[in-house]
Amino acid sequence: MEKVLFCFIFLFFISTQKINSLLIFRKFNIKISNHLASNNKLMFNCGSGEGFKALFIFLPSNQEWNKRITVFPKTLIWCDLWKGPIYMEHAMFNVFLGKQSFIHNVCGGRKPNECFWQAQEDGIYVRNNSAGTFKFMYKWDTKDLT
Ligand SMILES: *[C@@H]1O[C@H](CO)[C@@H](O)[C@H](O)[C@H]1NC(C)=O
Repeated sequence: MEKVLFCFIFLFFISTQKINSLLIFRKFNIKISNHLASNNKLMFNCGSGEGFKALFIFLPSNQEWNKRITVFPKTLIWCDLWKGPIYMEHAMFNVFLGKQSFIHNVCGGRKPNECFWQAQEDGIYVRNNSAGTFKFMYKWDTKDLT
């Protein structure tokens, strides 16, 4: 019985690894768009464990920032977004993880190959790729600035 269970766990492990390995070396776009009111700018910093950095990007309203990446095992990219014009409120989160589950559950699939984040007055939204709709994800936060 233990052996059977072990086999199942092993097969399960192999199959999840296979799914994630389909992503390896694929190109992916990460998009951030500024949908704040009144021409307010969006400021952000992004980084990854693999050395990628984008610092102090000031994105004008109704514009998009686009970063094309190659997916490696354990790719993790985070961004810290700051809401203009006073940049007191922010939201920090993972914009991309090199995992099938993240791409499916957060970005809404691989068609197109992108994770599309949008800053609005009440917080951060992500596009569901398969539906084309935006879903609310994170509220602006000021609590760690006090
Ligand atoms: C995306 O939208 C589709 C169609 O409405 C829905 O079935 C799916 O659960 C949604 N995915 C996410 C991650 O919200």
